[in-house]
Amino acid sequence: MQHDPEPAAGGTVVTGRIITVAQQKGGSGKTTLTVNLAVALRRRGLRVAVLDTDPQGSLGRWFMERLDRMGEDEGLEFSTSSAWGASYESEKLRKRFDVVLIDTPPKIESDLRPALRVADLVVVPVASSQVDLWATEGVLDLAAREKRPVLVVLNRTRPNTRLGAEVAAGAAALGVAVAQSQLANRVAYAETLGRGEAAMEIPRSAARDEVAALTDEVLAHAGG
Ligand SMILES: Nc1ncnc2c1ncn2[C@@H]1O[C@H](COP(=O)(O)OP(=O)(O)OP(=O)(O)O)[C@@H](O)[C@H]1O
Ligand SMILES: [Mg+2]
Repeated sequence: MQHDPEPAAGGTVVTGRIITVAQQKGGSGKTTLTVNLAVALRRRGLRVAVLDTDPQGSLGRWFMERLDRMGEDEGLEFSTSSAWGASYESEKLRKRFDVVLIDTPPKIESDLRPALRVADLVVVPVASSQVDLWATEGVLDLAAREKRPVLVVLNRTRPNTRLGAEVAAGAAALGVAVAQSQLANRVAYAETLGRGEAAMEIPRSAARDEVAALTDEVLAHAGG
């Protein structure tokens, strides 16, 4: 079956891009970013596959909730694989989908390599704390070893706080790209995740605006 990819941000045509979301620190927002980017990209007319390599299976729970509520969307597919199967599975998916988003478990081991190696972009969420910032070095080292481009995304930010400014400064000093758009700490992210939805589906919300802006940046870095 053939499909013509529609132009995404800036009129670029996106095909077969693999974006891996990774961060050693648990609860940093990997799954949140995966689902929000997936829905945002889908709403731009792209065909999107999400691949869960985390045995916790939160992404699958989100997808099943979504399926129950909204029914099937042939342009949004869910798949699972082991950590080692990530490159094989995503290479297969990239032939049928414009974007493949890989969600990964909260642990950095050599296991993560297949998901990194295959990525056109590694998106690294950093929840707003120094501890999360420290934990970031592990995934940055692995991505560097695989020579993969990285985009750090500050998540759960609390604008206009000293901590927020400190973490932003720390991120800037990591020596990798840091997205200008940040996701603030908003109950909307937790609520939508539990309902199988995403921020883009809340009309006129701040969460929707920040995810839209982040999606532009992610596409630009993924070589859309
Ligand atoms: N920007 C945000 N604002 C509010 N809550 C958030 C935000 N980002 C994530 N959360 C909440 O924080 C918790 C952890 O987020 P999430 O599951 O996305 O992290 P994770 O990195 O995938 O975790 P794990 O390492 O366990 O896989 C969830 O309850 C989620 O709803
Ligand atoms: Mg997760």
